[in-house]
Amino acid sequence: MAVKTILTEPNKILRQISKPVEKVGKEEQKLMDDMLDTMYAANGIGLAAIQIGVPKRIIVMDISKDQDKKEPRYFVNPVIKNKDEQKTTYEEGCLSVPNQFAEIDRPSQCEVEYLDYNGVPQLLKAEGLLATCIQHEMDHLEGILFIDYLSKLKKSMIIKKLSKAKSDRIVV
Ligand code: NI
Repeated sequence: MAVKTILTEPNKILRQISKPVEKVGKEEQKLMDDMLDTMYAANGIGLAAIQIGVPKRIIVMDISKDQDKKEPRYFVNPVIKNKDEQKTTYEEGCLSVPNQFAEIDRPSQCEVEYLDYNGVPQLLKAEGLLATCIQHEMDHLEGILFIDYLSKLKKSMIIKKLSKAKSDRIVV
């Protein structure tokens, strides 16, 4: 298990479309272990493989609030089946868009078909934070970030801020 570097906007790799996983084997399980370590280390509740530079359709999540009772979830090749017409608004952030937050509307319920950590097909009915988080992570698999839903002006301001933060960084 290892903590990996999380790529941040405007890194173009984040815009790649991730490829389906053919089989959940040792390599994919190791990737999921690393993703979970990376996510916990960054205090995130969800992470897609592309965020650590691996273009595979794999997501890890843990929306449990209790630090001592971890509830990791693994989604391989997730597909959203039914989306609710009703929308819910959450203030979203993203490990790849550090320190930026915005209110985003998404369907409040959805069903997700996926393979779990052992490659077993599963169906999950999600609502509330879980539904929002899954949809946010699924967007990563398509190269979409939450800032893409904002106005052009707001989005470019955020990207400018992030680019500036990077160029100010020094290593001594
Ligand atoms: Ni994200």
